[in-house]
Order: sequence, then structure tokens, then C-alpha cells
Amino acid sequence: MNAPAPASPADTLRSALAGLLDGLPPRQAAQAVERLIATYRGATPTAAPILRDRADVAAYAAYRMPATFEAVRSALAAFADAVPGWTPGDHLDVGGGTGAAAWAVSATWGGKRPVTVLDWAEPALALGRELAAAHPALTDTRWQRSRIGTALTLDDADLVTVSYVLNELTEGDRAALVDAVAGAARAVVIVEPGTPDGYARVIEARDRLISAGFRVAAPCPHSAACPIVPGTDWCHFSARVSRSSLHRQVKGGSLAYEDEKFSYVAATRLPVSPAPARVVRRPQIRKGQVLLDLCETDPALRRTTVTKRHGDLYRAARDTDWGDPWPPPPADDGEE
Ligand SMILES: C[S@@+](CC[C@H](N)C(=O)[O-])C[C@H]1O[C@@H](n2cnc3c(N)ncnc32)[C@H](O)[C@@H]1O
Repeated sequence: MNAPAPASPADTLRSALAGLLDGLPPRQAAQAVERLIATYRGATPTAAPILRDRADVAAYAAYRMPATFEAVRSALAAFADAVPGWTPGDHLDVGGGTGAAAWAVSATWGGKRPVTVLDWAEPALALGRELAAAHPALTDTRWQRSRIGTALTLDDADLVTVSYVLNELTEGDRAALVDAVAGAARAVVIVEPGTPDGYARVIEARDRLISAGFRVAAPCPHSAACPIVPGTDWCHFSARVSRSSLHRQVKGGSLAYEDEKFSYVAATRLPVSPAPARVVRRPQIRKGQVLLDLCETDPALRRTTVTKRHGDLYRAARDTDWGDPWPPPPADDGEE
């Protein structure tokens, strides 16, 4: 008899999170999430951690972590495509909270590597450690209390992730963090909510990284200025997230999933092969044609129409998704 396939990091995370609210009355869990949502709607940055206690972090992990995990995983997949054959030797997650990015890195590149998660919220780190106990690749993770600010120093790391953190920092601390990361990392992936403000923070970080000698690996096909005229649009992508019963309880409705919108930049000092162009909106499928909005290397934004007359390319366009490279990379059929 065949042994059952080992669970993927995504499945392991889902079941670790499902157990988190066991024993907590559903109403209490929903209230903790509602409090969290209200706090995040208020003024950030804050002088003290938003995630103050176990109820806050359990609510954050159950309600937000599946979405931040999927957004980071999606950004990492695009980055991995641009650095084929490269695997990070170690990983540092700054403002890592309950460790979503650590799980996403482990889902992108298998095997075990030294991982450090930095955050100023001790309850978040404690819960992150608890969840990571379910995943052999993350059991040795260092969960380190640390405040992001002008005094922050970082140890060198192959890969640094900064996921959904810039939003919580002052302008000065954002700049200090990106500069510290640029000094420590070979590769960095920064993810923010897919809003105009999130995009603006990503562009600010992208500019600083390029000035520090990094090249953009994804989503942009180039390291020149972003062709979007500020204020007219924002570059963002979408990751599908299965909704937990807690999601349904808090947000109502019966949809089994929701789409997490995010903006990101992946940049590196490694040699990179960015995509020739990237699909920057959901493709529009019409009768006999597919409309693709592309960011190209000019650098420019351009709409292209792929019709049935394009044969294989048309079939590929029908399978192409928002955020994918275009044209699709040749299929790896495993032959020499
Ligand atoms: C929205 S959560 C994101 C957590 C995690 N990176 C993720 O993607 O799920 C923001 C995190 O940044 C941390 N944070 C915010 N400001 C910070 C600061 N000045 N120093 C250290 N951590 C900070 C918070 O404690 C929180 O864990």
C-alpha cells in the first residue's frame, strides 16, 4: 500500500488555524475579529502594538493569516520564476507577526532553512511559534522581539520578506526599514494591501531598493520607473483564499472563497530574468478573443487582443490569469 502523501504547508497551516479557535465561543471569536477590523480602520501607525493579547492574535491569525499567506505565496511564486534554480539559504521575516510569510516561503521552496521572524508584538510571536510546531520545516524558527525603527539593524539574509507591515509604520520608519533590508538582503519581497495607498508604499520601497543597487524581479518586467501615472491607477493582483467558517461568520454570505488584493515588489542582487511582460488586470474573455492588459519592458502599459487566429497563443491566453507572465513560459515537459 502506498503511504499517504505528506500534507502541503498550505494544508498544514489550514488545519493548525482551524484548531486555534477551538473552545472559544463563536460570538467571542467574531467580536475579536470585529475589534481588529475596527482598529485597522483607525489611525495607523500606532505607538504600541495593535496585537495586544492572545484573543487579538488568534483573531488575526484565523481571520487574516490565510489571506496574507496566499498573497505572499503568490508574490514569491512570481519571484521564483525570475530566479530559476535559486533557493534561499535562509529567511528573515520582518514584522512577521504570526509567521504567514515563513509558511509561504516554505510552501515555495521545500526543505528546511534557518528562519527568523521579527516583530514587536510578543503575543503574535508566541502564537506564531505555536502554529509553526505543526510544520517540521518551521519548528526551529527563531521568534524574536524587535522594534522596527531608525535603530533597527538586521543580520544578513538570503531572503527578507516584509508583508503587510509598511502600512503600520511612519514614513521615516518605512524608509529606515527598506534601507536596513537593502543592506542585509540578497533578495527582498515586499507585500502590501492592493489599494492605491498600498501600491504607493510599494513604489516608494521599489525606488529605494533600485537606488541601493537592486534589480526588480517581479511583478515589473523592468527596473525603470513604473509607467502608471500617479493617482490614475494602481498596480495590484489577486490571490484566491478559501474562507474559513470564521470568515463566513464575521462577513456573512456563503461563498467558499474570497479574493485577496495585494501589491508587491520582489527585488534582488542576484542575476534575474524578469517576465517579458505581465498581465496586470483580469483578462477579458470574449467570443473568439482574449483581451490582455500588459505591463511591458518599454516600459509601457498596453492592451493586446489575442484571437482564435493566433492558435496555440489563443489557447494559452484563455488559460492566462491576472498576474501571470506573458507570453507564457515554455512548458517544462521534463525532457532534456
Ligand atoms: C498586519 S500585520 C502583518 C503580519 C504578517 N507579516 C503577515 O503578513 O500576516 C503587521 C505586523 O507588523 C508588526 N509591526 C507593526 N509595527 C511594528 C514595529 N514598529 N516594530 C515591529 N513590528 C511592527 C505588527 O506587530 C504586526 O505583527
